[in-house]
Amino acid sequence: MESHSWQEWEKKLAAVTAAFEAEIAGATDEKAVEAIRQRYLGRKGGVLAGMLRTVGELPAAERPRAGQLANAARGAIEARLSERSAQLAVAALERRLAEEQVDVSLPGWPVPAGHRHPISIVKAEIEDFFVSLGYDVVSGPETEYDYFNFEALNIPKEHPARDMHDSFYLGETTLLRTHTSPMQIRYMQAHAPEVPLRVVVPGRTYRRDDDATHAPMFHQVEGLVVGEGVTMGDLKGTLLALARAIFGEATAIRMRPSYFPFTEPSAEVDVTCTVCGGTGCRTCKGTGWLEVLGSGMVHPQVLRNGGYDPDRVSGFAFGLGIERMAMLKYGIEDLRHFYTNDWRFLAQF
Ligand code: PHE
Repeated sequence: MESHSWQEWEKKLAAVTAAFEAEIAGATDEKAVEAIRQRYLGRKGGVLAGMLRTVGELPAAERPRAGQLANAARGAIEARLSERSAQLAVAALERRLAEEQVDVSLPGWPVPAGHRHPISIVKAEIEDFFVSLGYDVVSGPETEYDYFNFEALNIPKEHPARDMHDSFYLGETTLLRTHTSPMQIRYMQAHAPEVPLRVVVPGRTYRRDDDATHAPMFHQVEGLVVGEGVTMGDLKGTLLALARAIFGEATAIRMRPSYFPFTEPSAEVDVTCTVCGGTGCRTCKGTGWLEVLGSGMVHPQVLRNGGYDPDRVSGFAFGLGIERMAMLKYGIEDLRHFYTNDWRFLAQF
């Protein structure tokens, strides 16, 4: 009877172990493993604890063996639980690695990138060119005194040249600058009698104009060089190099006599037509040339107004329209495209 009872107990323990093995093999996550641990090893309702309680019912001689067996079973169950935990952790990691795998060879989503505005591009090219020649780049005020915009540039009141400018006046003596030339005076006055001066001044300018080739706000770059023995040849060489830097090495320039109150002599500068290359087309009206800027030798009175002695130094100056340069460079037919900011236009640059 007793031996029978012992065999029963041993069989029951084997059944518990087998049931445990089946359950633990079926556990698919850490939570399930924890639940099984509680069910089998829990101090109170645990299956193994229940088995240990029944050891006392066995014949005294069998109890030590039963205790040993129960302890061995507990050890095996503990080992199996941590083994299963580790297996599941590895499997979970492998699953995550597979799920989160990134195919680095897949083409990415295009990142929409902004564009520099064509005016900014041409402005930067002009600045870079002059910086490479050792010029300073400065800017000046857009609201200007009549004195700097006209008077000091040899354009007194009632001078007919004021009509060319269609100014926006802000008051009796102030206006939105009609060109960047006032910076010739400001820069000379700030530096006289230092020589040589080499400076370019990019910036906004304003005139009461509005059509396909004129806007009320547009951009100019002023250039000014003052030094001993500066000649018209220096002006021509500088402008030829500029034209080639912006429009390409095959570009030629041509200077035509012109008139500005602040330069003497004055010259209008043409470049080889960017559309036909000089053979003659509609854009250049059959001439092969396109006008790009105004220039000349700084007028002696303007040098004086800037604080320089025209008997000791000379200088040249030029003023170009950035919009006009950009239109010629890129073949844009209407200036207003620059200001409407249609991205289909802007994205082409
Ligand atoms: N300021 C003149 C204009 O706006 C251009 C110019 C600049 C001409 C410097 C000669 C010298 O038309």
